[in-house]
Amino acid sequence: MCLKNNGIGLKGDMPWPRIPKELKHFADVTTSKDPLAYSIGDYAMKSCLFSSGLTAQTQPQGLAKVNAVVMGRKTWDSLPAKFRPLPGRLNLVLSRTLSTVGTDENGMLEVSSSLEDALASLSVNPKVNEIFIIGGAQIYEEALKHEACKLVILTRIGKAFEADTFMPRIEETYTRLHVSRTYQHKDITYDFLFLGNRKLLSTKPELVPTRLMERYPCHAEMQYLEIIKDIIETGAIKDDRTGVGIVGKFGY
Ligand SMILES: NC(=O)c1ccc[n+]([C@@H]2O[C@H](COP(=O)([O-])OP(=O)(O)OC[C@H]3O[C@@H](n4cnc5c(N)ncnc54)[C@H](OP(=O)(O)O)[C@@H]3O)[C@@H](O)[C@H]2O)c1
Repeated sequence: MCLKNNGIGLKGDMPWPRIPKELKHFADVTTSKDPLAYSIGDYAMKSCLFSSGLTAQTQPQGLAKVNAVVMGRKTWDSLPAKFRPLPGRLNLVLSRTLSTVGTDENGMLEVSSSLEDALASLSVNPKVNEIFIIGGAQIYEEALKHEACKLVILTRIGKAFEADTFMPRIEETYTRLHVSRTYQHKDITYDFLFLGNRKLLSTKPELVPTRLMERYPCHAEMQYLEIIKDIIETGAIKDDRTGVGIVGKFGY
């Protein structure tokens, strides 16, 4: 998402030129089969929102084979023919008007007429591990309101680009968990922001796939802020010579 205007699309394509490392990040995250990256315990919640991922539902570990990527029909149309279906992932296209968007001999392409039906069928599919919602705006809008959306993985593009499709507002239902360091491609700066579903974090934190974030070194400023937060929350209050008092913690 472009930070200046929340743009995510222009004329059926991305607003910004190819950023190889960002594309690799998208491919790595949505293709990864590392169960530890997503879940802890015998049952994995499936379903993450990606802008760039929605993580929903339960299934036994060990049966997981591939992740699913759920996208709107216009996003499917925007993928170059040679890259679709996106390899190594079950591609599920949402359309209210079409019942098919092509064929795939490996059975990695499906069409569904609603997000609810898509999540229900993917959740009981023994081939599927994690579910990623990969856009566009119409699908993000619905997915962001869905209670099964565990994590939002957002690429923030620092340079302004014209756009005609925009990321919907991400409500207070989500809280910031992690910001990566800032990367640069030519004159474009970008980073990866991870937001967690507040309700799940307070009720079933083990289901929010925070291990995924460990792959992305923290922004130095965020590291500093994390240390300050830790000192304020868990430090000891002591007297000092000025009488104002200090909060301190052993080790910092
Ligand atoms: N930067 C990013 O992260 C990112 C990610 C993805 C896409 N994009 C960009 O975003 C743009 C496309 O986004 P968009 O919002 O215009 O379109 P979209 O969300 O990709 O697709 C919209 C289409 O999906 C179907 N649809 C929507 N809601 C549905 C539902 N609840 N159930 C069943 N089908 C549903 C309808 O298809 P039918 O008309 O066939 O019924 C609708 O016309 C492109 O420019 C693309 O390049 C950017």
